[in-house]
Amino acid sequence: MAPMVVALILVPPPSLSLHPSQRVSLGDNVTLCCHLPQPAAWVRLYRYKNTTYIEQKDKEERMAEFSLAGIKPQDAVRYQCQYQGLEPPGTSK
Ligand SMILES: *[C@@H]1O[C@H](CO)[C@@H](O)[C@H](O)[C@H]1NC(C)=O
Ligand SMILES: *[C@@H]1O[C@H](CO)[C@@H](O)[C@H](O)[C@H]1NC(C)=O
Repeated sequence: MAPMVVALILVPPPSLSLHPSQRVSLGDNVTLCCHLPQPAAWVRLYRYKNTTYIEQKDKEERMAEFSLAGIKPQDAVRYQCQYQGLEPPGTSK
């Protein structure tokens, strides 16, 4: 059997911040900002450990903003963002 070649392209991870970062009340609108270390083909927002993304933004340079309107108790979870870099084209969460 031929050996399997796995090409791993590593791109630096993005970071996520919440605005406003404090005193968020039920019903408020908040923005999650995914900060990108490099330009992205697309950026996706996920609930932590959920493989279905909430929203995707295409062609972002430095930051992708995701708005969550009317915060409910069930929105108080961890979130993750993932992007696909343009060059190199690896993805990182
Ligand atoms: C949230 O945004 C909606 C429009 O998207 C607006 O009607 C509403 O007043 C906003 N709520 C708060 C608490 O700012
Ligand atoms: C996973 O995320 C999707 C998109 O936001 C949502 O519709 C679904 O209810 C979530 N599933 C769980 C188990 O939280």
